Amino acid sequence: MGGGHEKIRQTIDRLRREIEQHNYYYYVLDAPTITDAQYDRLMADLQQLEKENPLLITPDSPTQRVGGKPREGFTTVQHPVAMLSLANAFSDAELAEFDRRVRGSLGGEPYQYVVELKIDGLAVSLTYQDSIFVRGATRGDGSTGEDITANLKTIRSIPLRLHQPVDLLEVRGEVYMPKESFVELNRRREEMGEPLFANPRNAAAGSLRQLDPAVTAGRNLSIFVYGIGAAELSGHQLPTSHSEGLKWLEGLGLRVNSHCQLCRDIGEAISYCRIWQNKKADLPYQIDGLVIKVNSLAQQSALGFTMKSPRWAMAFKFPPEQAQTTVRDIIVSVGRTGVITPTAVLDPVFLAGSTVSRATLHNEDIIREKDIRIGDRVVIHKAGDVIPEVVEVLKDSRTGGEKVFSMPAACPACGAEVVRATGEAARRCTGAACPAQLLEGMIHFASRGAMDIAGLGPAVVAQLTEAGLVRDVSDLYSLTEEQLLRLERFGDKSAENLVRAIAASKENPLHRLIFALGIRHAGERAARVLAEHFGDLDRLMNAGYDELITIPEIGPKIAESIINFAREPQNRALIERLAEYGVNMTAEAAPASLSDGPLKGKTLVLTGTLAVLKRDEAKELVEQAGGKVSSSVSKKTDYVVAGENPGSKYEKAVKLNLPVLDEQEFLALIKPVL
Ligand code: IVH
Repeated sequence: MGGGHEKIRQTIDRLRREIEQHNYYYYVLDAPTITDAQYDRLMADLQQLEKENPLLITPDSPTQRVGGKPREGFTTVQHPVAMLSLANAFSDAELAEFDRRVRGSLGGEPYQYVVELKIDGLAVSLTYQDSIFVRGATRGDGSTGEDITANLKTIRSIPLRLHQPVDLLEVRGEVYMPKESFVELNRRREEMGEPLFANPRNAAAGSLRQLDPAVTAGRNLSIFVYGIGAAELSGHQLPTSHSEGLKWLEGLGLRVNSHCQLCRDIGEAISYCRIWQNKKADLPYQIDGLVIKVNSLAQQSALGFTMKSPRWAMAFKFPPEQAQTTVRDIIVSVGRTGVITPTAVLDPVFLAGSTVSRATLHNEDIIREKDIRIGDRVVIHKAGDVIPEVVEVLKDSRTGGEKVFSMPAACPACGAEVVRATGEAARRCTGAACPAQLLEGMIHFASRGAMDIAGLGPAVVAQLTEAGLVRDVSDLYSLTEEQLLRLERFGDKSAENLVRAIAASKENPLHRLIFALGIRHAGERAARVLAEHFGDLDRLMNAGYDELITIPEIGPKIAESIINFAREPQNRALIERLAEYGVNMTAEAAPASLSDGPLKGKTLVLTGTLAVLKRDEAKELVEQAGGKVSSSVSKKTDYVVAGENPGSKYEKAVKLNLPVLDEQEFLALIKPVL
């Protein structure tokens, strides 16, 4: 292989290491050191290089986190060490009983406990061979699980390569969905009329058991690793206690939960459980209890296992939190895509860390199934510790005065007809200019994953629309400080900041704009894929179904929805207005270092067979270096690159007295981009 190739390989290697290091900072340590845009740039550079050099793609490349086609089904995996479950305790007395058994079995030896959070997700096993992530599996029945490697690779807190050399290591952990992502996922599903997940655990499980890893990738899952299954290390010593083991796993780059405590006796362990029982609402993920483990690994082996669970560990489970209250009313609201969502207005009641006065009822089918009526006494809980929901109606408490609710036939915001599409649980407003839909659409446009306009939250959007200052999102770009100053709660500083933030959003990368437009089914991930494929919004708006459907990760639902969006004259007019205001409509230009490259503005002609580079590789390199490749030699040609058997182009170049380079000279010229 030639020197050029070696350079490319080194660049690819460096980019991979850099990207994985940033994944680690961001997803494991929760402390990013570069901006999202800088990260995207590194990823785009790597993708480009791998596209040009497909033979250099390796399974541990960060680009392979979402790769390949959906599978037909999952294959099974035999766990080398059984994945057991835990025995449960629900009271202090049961924990004290567990402690007595431990003490008895250890025959008077001193021992300590480690207490950890019990993450409410899905148990998985991760196998690393020569430090590379080679296989991931579900627990299954404990001895046989399902191979979900491709899906686990999409989780960026799972390192594809460990930070230290290990021959073979199998670790166990819990994949979970953060509360915020669960709320957002269900909000989107509700809007699309899709069935909802009952809690983050079901959402995580449903997302991991997808046959298409692209779906998993869009779900924002994460992991905490809590134990070692099998390990083979040459020249290293294995940890001798669980707490040391956790530190070791952390040192390998794996994500370990920081909330854990070494306790000298069961009393201390119980106190630690109490702390988290009262504080669990503060955590960004759901826990369903704590796990108490004997710390010494030698003592763990001495204690051993029962058929189902280790004798050295016990789960302390929280009782489910529920409350009773009365449904005072059922109201409806209109979402961004026109979905009408019913909500129960409740007598305020304290539940799991906050006062609850509303509960989502999701859709009319759920109201009917649970037979929820206005005036009913109900039991409520918080799905995923966050979303208040009605669990059941206390029908024995009915007085006969309760009122059956029915969904409105007309939109409460604009009066347009409300329809229910076949196969959907949701009813939608059909009004094209429905103010409630516009309002929600604008809130989405300004939101974090979209145009990310600081200071433009739901309350300000409502103020702006009520004052008649904005009718659609393009109007945002003509807002002035003077107009804002006339509104309540706006001062010089806040008005100036908002106008500046709106103006700054014009420079956002294309994928943010695509997501911000709120095309149904086109989430953040799809927006990135589309931006990368089309490079500008105009091309996307003119794309045909057949082209869309061939793009990896773009399915028929998204393709159809883009076509429908692009067909609507109002949407086209909106995009035109945004363009007139100077909103960026193209994918990021080539990195400055490259467009300012050594061949900036130069035209080259390639002729003959090159020894190292293929013709299209050479062409790509010219373009990366800022130059252009032309097929015919003229006075405007700056260089002719000639390989073996160059033919007539070479003769013409000599005749015109143009500089002719051989391959090595060419490679030397473009060295900065290799
Ligand atoms: S230790 C031998 N530690 O709880 C069993 N499990 O009910 C080792 N879980 O299947 C399990 N957080 O999915 C352990 N810090 C933690 C955990 C944890 C969540 C889950 C795990 C396990 C289930 C047992």
